[in-house]
Order: sequence, then structure tokens, then C-alpha cells
Amino acid sequence: MAAFVRACALSELEDDTPKRVEIDGTPVSVVRTEGEVFAINDICSHANVSLSEGEVENCTIECWLHGSSFDLRTGKPSGLPATRPVPVYPVKIEGDDVLVSVSQES
Ligand code: FES
Repeated sequence: MAAFVRACALSELEDDTPKRVEIDGTPVSVVRTEGEVFAINDICSHANVSLSEGEVENCTIECWLHGSSFDLRTGKPSGLPATRPVPVYPVKIEGDDVLVSVSQES
């Protein structure tokens, strides 16, 4: 069973503005975009760069350093230089709480 942990309040998320949180020691970028909320590991798979500092567009988050974009649904990079996906995590909304399970990658 995946353990869902409160990441933040839904009302504090602005569209297309990633919010970095730590859940059980895991850095996670929580993103509200296109009417949904996604949770993706905050560290780029190419180098140790915080994805939450990048731009969100078309359901992807872009690494500001070298420009790879990662699909918020799958974590897959859309182009070089990153070749490996970034883990994405299940999200549940309960009232104003955004819950994320980092114990289970989806
Ligand atoms: S550090 Fe993210 S693409 Fe290079």
C-alpha cells in the first residue's frame, strides 16, 4: 500500500508554478497545471538541478540548466541531454490537502 503524505495545500499552488517540498527526505516538485496536480522528483536525471526552478508548459517541466523537459505524467524526458526519466508519484486531493506517495513511483 502506498502511504500518502500531505505535501501542501491545494490553495497555495498557483497554476504552472512548481512548489518544492520534501516528503520523507525526498525532494518533490508539486505542479498544478491544466486542471490537474502532479508530483515529480525535484532532481533532474541529468545533473543535480532542481526542476522546480524551471518552466512548466504543455504538461512538462523544463530543466533550466540544459533544457530537457520532463513529462509530468510519466517523467520521461522529451529530448537531450537527459536520457533517463525522473520518478513521478501518485497524487490524491482531499479537500484542500495535496497528498503524495513517494513510496510508490507510478
Ligand atoms: S541538468 Fe537538467 S538537463 Fe542537464
